[in-house]
Amino acid sequence: MVHVAVVGAGGWGKNLIRNFAGLKDCKLHTVCDLDAAKLSQNESLYPGLRTTQDLNEVIGSKEIDAVVIASPAPMHFDMARRALEAGKHVYVEKPMTLSAADAERLVALADQAGRKLMVGHLLEYHPCVRMLKDMIDGGELGDLYYLYCQRLNLGVVRKDENAWWSLAPHDVSVVLYLFGAEAKTVTSQGHAYLRPGVEDVVFTQIRFADGRMASIHVSWLDPHKIRKMTLVGTKKMATFDDMESSEKIRVYDKAADVVPGTVSYADSITIRQGDIHMPMIKGGEPLKDECRHFVESILNNTTPLSDGRDGLRVVKVLEAATQSLRQGGAPVEL
Ligand SMILES: NC(=O)c1ccc[n+]([C@@H]2O[C@H](COP(=O)([O-])OP(=O)(O)OC[C@H]3O[C@@H](n4cnc5c(N)ncnc54)[C@H](O)[C@@H]3O)[C@@H](O)[C@H]2O)c1
Repeated sequence: MVHVAVVGAGGWGKNLIRNFAGLKDCKLHTVCDLDAAKLSQNESLYPGLRTTQDLNEVIGSKEIDAVVIASPAPMHFDMARRALEAGKHVYVEKPMTLSAADAERLVALADQAGRKLMVGHLLEYHPCVRMLKDMIDGGELGDLYYLYCQRLNLGVVRKDENAWWSLAPHDVSVVLYLFGAEAKTVTSQGHAYLRPGVEDVVFTQIRFADGRMASIHVSWLDPHKIRKMTLVGTKKMATFDDMESSEKIRVYDKAADVVPGTVSYADSITIRQGDIHMPMIKGGEPLKDECRHFVESILNNTTPLSDGRDGLRVVKVLEAATQSLRQGGAPVEL
C-alpha cells in the first residue's frame, strides 16, 4: 500500500486527488493546500482524509510514502526538492521545473535518494498517443518525415506564464516520445498582444540530428478550439484529433513515393491516394492510467515512462524555445 499526499487541490489537483483516492494499492493520506475552503471540501468528499495548510507536515510525516505536487509551476522545484530530500517518491505536474538546471538537480536528487521521480506528461498515457507510437515503431507509417501540433483556444489567458509554458509541455513531451530522440535545435517566434512580456501565441520548430522536424503552434488567442497533431511518414500519414469524441485517429493511405531510377523529373514522384482508416481505440482514461503507473512504479521498483529524465528533456526544449523567442527566433542548439 502506497500512502500518498497531494499538494495543491486546485483545478487540476482535484482530478489527481479523485484518481489517487480511487486506486487500489494506494491510500490518499493527506491533501495540502493553502486554501482552507478547498481542504474542507475534500474532507467531506473523502471521509478519513487528513488535510493541512502546511507542507512541512507532509514532508515530516513518516506515514506518507509519496508526494504528488499540483501547485503552480514556480513552486514545483522547491516542493519536489524538499520531498525528495525527506525520502519521498515524487510525482510533479508539468512543467517539472522552470529551468533545466533545476530539473537536473531533481533528477540527481532522486537518483541519490533511490526514489521515483515522475512528471505529469499526461499525453504519454493517452491510448491514441500510444497507438501512434506503435504505428511509428512498427513501421506502419514508414519513416516519420515530420509532424505538427496545434493547441489553440480563446482563453484561459494567464498572467504568470506565457502560452508556451502553459500549453506546450504536453506537445513537447509527445514530440520527443514519438520521435524517440532528443531535440537538436529549437527556433521559436511569438508575440505578446494582451500583456507585455507574456506571449499569447507561439510557433516553435524542433529539429532532430537526422534532419526530421516537428512544429508546435500554441495560442490562447485564437477563434478555433483545436488539439490536433498531424504526422507525415514515407508510407502513410495520420492525424490525432483530441477534440473528436470518437474517431480520434485517422490513418491516411497517402504518400508521395519517389521512384528510383526514373529519367524524367515528371515521372520521378508518384502521389498515392488511398483509403482513410479510423482504428478502434482501446484503452482507459489517461489520468487514471498515469496515476496507477506512478503507484506501480513504486511497488514494482520500475522506472516511470515519464520519469525525471523525460521531464528534464522537455524542460530543456521549453527553455531553449524561450531563449529563441527572446532572440527574435534565432536557432538555439541543445
Ligand atoms: N497535466 C495536465 O493536463 C494539467 C492540466 C492543468 C494543470 N496542470 C498543472 O497542474 C498545476 C496546477 O495547476 P492548476 O490549474 O490546478 O492551478 P490552480 O491555481 O487551480 O491550483 C493550484 C493550487 O495550489 C495551491 N497552492 C499554492 N501555493 C501552495 C502552497 N505553498 N502549499 C500548498 N498549496 C498551495 C493553491 O491554493 C491552489 O489551490 C500546474 O503545474 C499546471 O501546469 C496540469
